[in-house]
Amino acid sequence: ANGAHVPAVAIGSGYGAAVSALRLGEAGVQTTVLEMGRLWNEPGEDGKVFCTMTAPDERSMWFKRRTEAPLSTLLWLDVVNRDIDPYPGVLDRVNYDDMSVYVGRGVGGGSLVNGGMAVVPRRDYFEAVLPGVDAAAMYDRYFPLALAELQVNTIDPAFYEKTEYYRFSRVAAAQAEAAGLKTVFVPDVYDFEYMEREAAGTAPKSALGGEVIYGNNAGKMSLDKTYLASALATGNVTIAARHEVRSIAIDANGDYVLTVDHRDDANEVIETKRITCRHLFLGAGSLGTTELLLRARETGALPDLDEAVGSGWGPNGNVMTARANHLWSPTGLKQSTIPVMGIDDWDNPDARVFAELAPLPAGIETWISLYLAITDNPERGRFTYDAATDKAVLDWRLEQAQPGVAAAKSMFDRINKKHGTSYRYDLFGDDRAFADDFCYHPLGGCVLGEATDAYGRLNGYERLYATDSSLIPGSIGVNPLVTITALAERNLEAILAADFA
Ligand code: FDA
Repeated sequence: ANGAHVPAVAIGSGYGAAVSALRLGEAGVQTTVLEMGRLWNEPGEDGKVFCTMTAPDERSMWFKRRTEAPLSTLLWLDVVNRDIDPYPGVLDRVNYDDMSVYVGRGVGGGSLVNGGMAVVPRRDYFEAVLPGVDAAAMYDRYFPLALAELQVNTIDPAFYEKTEYYRFSRVAAAQAEAAGLKTVFVPDVYDFEYMEREAAGTAPKSALGGEVIYGNNAGKMSLDKTYLASALATGNVTIAARHEVRSIAIDANGDYVLTVDHRDDANEVIETKRITCRHLFLGAGSLGTTELLLRARETGALPDLDEAVGSGWGPNGNVMTARANHLWSPTGLKQSTIPVMGIDDWDNPDARVFAELAPLPAGIETWISLYLAITDNPERGRFTYDAATDKAVLDWRLEQAQPGVAAAKSMFDRINKKHGTSYRYDLFGDDRAFADDFCYHPLGGCVLGEATDAYGRLNGYERLYATDSSLIPGSIGVNPLVTITALAERNLEAILAADFA
């Protein structure tokens, strides 16, 4: 309510915020979660909560007039995107000059729209990226804890080998192996037993029905079913959806003062609330957390925040690309939306790449093998605060994506050479073979041990914490959700022991 004072607030409801809410709630700390997106629990007129990728409607995207899908064209034709009414849809694409970032909006954050690939990073790379974190504790305790809480599971290889829904993956894996590359199964939070029932026709289709980036109506163990459900069950946590935190200040008692807009579906402000709290946990994601902190520092509301806030940002080396297969290598009319295999060439010192074998569930045979490559790109961007628009702007130039493109190209050139195939140039809106101007894995902006102490406490203030992907400096070598979750578990344990005594 307006004017409320609560012991703890978590901003956002993605991985960092959800872990914070559960562990605070368990410790008996009354916690309010403020999430700008919707609570996705009510079916629309079609009886479904979320829309599909092939027939997107207003529920698909965050206040857009037309969908902005990652693969925007087919044969250069604008056949993918659809006009939609502006609405608080579940997927946002935040467009900066040379980089667009996809993020989830809703109670559950990115877990509502992502592929659910749940990969523990390589220990040597983790240690290099976050040298200030005790890796032994992470690998012995916090990674296993995160995997258990997130309900991570792995596809049954027998199902994988025979189902038509993973033909696309088997084709791409066999081609990679023939080119001398190593493939690995990738665990996921999607319930593979449920998927087998979808395939058998005994359960409604979600992953096998073309649902993922605009939400899954079943099967996916998103955060609203795991961490956030457990948090609510403690009785100490409340979640307020469509509540957007606009600004953070501090009062004479050292309490944090939030200005929060409660908005309706037309995005009109219903009420602007003032909420104060003793402990503030930022979990608004790499973009959201960094923007709130930069705004606070640059407007003078929290002037002592570290100069490092805003820097150390990267797209986790994301590069998307696609190959055209021969007519005798169809990739399948039916494709699961959940990737379950990757090409692991991270040991290649000249071109470290971990590439997921991505589906393209177009409903027609396309002969396309699609990949999301994660590369070891050392380039970093920086956010600055633009007072005129009151927004954070990202300084990342297109040429900074080049090291990632070069690494991905060396992997897929190798596969093309082996099989006499070529790239597809018609999928990304122009004639590029490599999509290097958007990412799914924004990381950094409030880097652990630089803008914060070793546990995410913001330098310059007390009882103020970053908990999410903003802590990871730009790259982690695999899909990041497990690392974000495990790091939040580790940080919360230390914070609860020391700051709530
Ligand atoms: P996250 O972004 O999840 O949540 C932040 C929340 O804060 C959002 O709900 C947002 O609306 C809210 N918020 C922001 N500003 C706010 C404000 N001012 N006030 C109130 N609320 C605010 N990763 C992976 O490991 N495996 C995968 O398979 C994939 N696949 C994938 C596909 C797609 C399409 C996307 C977009 C992303 C992925 N990812 C992924 C990435 C993964 O989803 C991402 O890294 C995490 O969701 C980031 O978690 P955070 O906790 O940092 O924030």
